[in-house]
Amino acid sequence: MIAVVTSGKGGAGKSTVSAGLACALAREGQRVLVIDADAGLRSLDLMLGIEERAVYDLSDIFARRCEPIRAITPSSVADGVFVIPAPGTLEEMCSPEEMQYLCRGLASHYDTVLIDCPAGIGRGFRVATAPADRAIIVATPDMVCARDAQIVSGHLDAAGISCKMVINRLRPRPVMKGKMPDIDEVMDAAQVPLLGVIPEDEAVSIANANGKPLPLSSFTSRCFSNIAARFMGRSVRLANLAKMK
Ligand SMILES: Nc1ncnc2c1ncn2[C@@H]1O[C@H](COP(=O)(O)OP(=O)(O)OP(=O)(O)O)[C@@H](O)[C@H]1O
Ligand SMILES: [Mg+2]
Repeated sequence: MIAVVTSGKGGAGKSTVSAGLACALAREGQRVLVIDADAGLRSLDLMLGIEERAVYDLSDIFARRCEPIRAITPSSVADGVFVIPAPGTLEEMCSPEEMQYLCRGLASHYDTVLIDCPAGIGRGFRVATAPADRAIIVATPDMVCARDAQIVSGHLDAAGISCKMVINRLRPRPVMKGKMPDIDEVMDAAQVPLLGVIPEDEAVSIANANGKPLPLSSFTSRCFSNIAARFMGRSVRLANLAKMK
């Protein structure tokens, strides 16, 4: 299974969801390869704790400076998660076809390959989405982001890639006071079926910045586990918004 994690708007939480979902799938016993396809703005090397150990990146594979296996580093955040970091510069990386060829070859060695897509719908988007069997669109709960999610899902549908949405950074209090759109309103605007919800949680940014796992007992960690279970085809009820801190 090859899935791309994307969003229209930048900063919605694609890399956070890629890392969190990879760790949650690994807790289910999966072997997961995460490919950071965001050339020039990489973040998964830091979030998944490989920053100091990785020698090669995705561009080295395409430039034939190394075999693919040498660009894969095991994450220190979770056993069973492996990472190919993005190139540090915005060099012309590869064509969609080359990306497809690489990912299809690697997919037979992993249960899931997750591709962290750059923001927007330009060339980087076409490269990152080319190998995908399905897509996860990350949106923050605001109407601009929801509308961008709809636009992205239109592009993916046209390419025959089915989409599900993760709503990230939900803040229950303003939602319950009617000051922010609720899950139904975001879904109506985006027109994409829901895979799950992640709350706004300071622990997420702390974990991201330090390449550390989220506390396993935390509500947010459970939300990632629920998303992983639904990703694997199990039916899990949505967590109770009122219980989110
Ligand atoms: N649920 C959350 N709670 C708190 N902070 C979050 C949450 N999700 C993401 N963040 C923070 O928001 C910032 C942007 O997240 P992230 O890098 O995952 O977004 P992105 O969509 O990958 O961005 P880009 O478009 O630049 O690739 C990061 O600093 C991250 O730690
Ligand atoms: Mg990112």
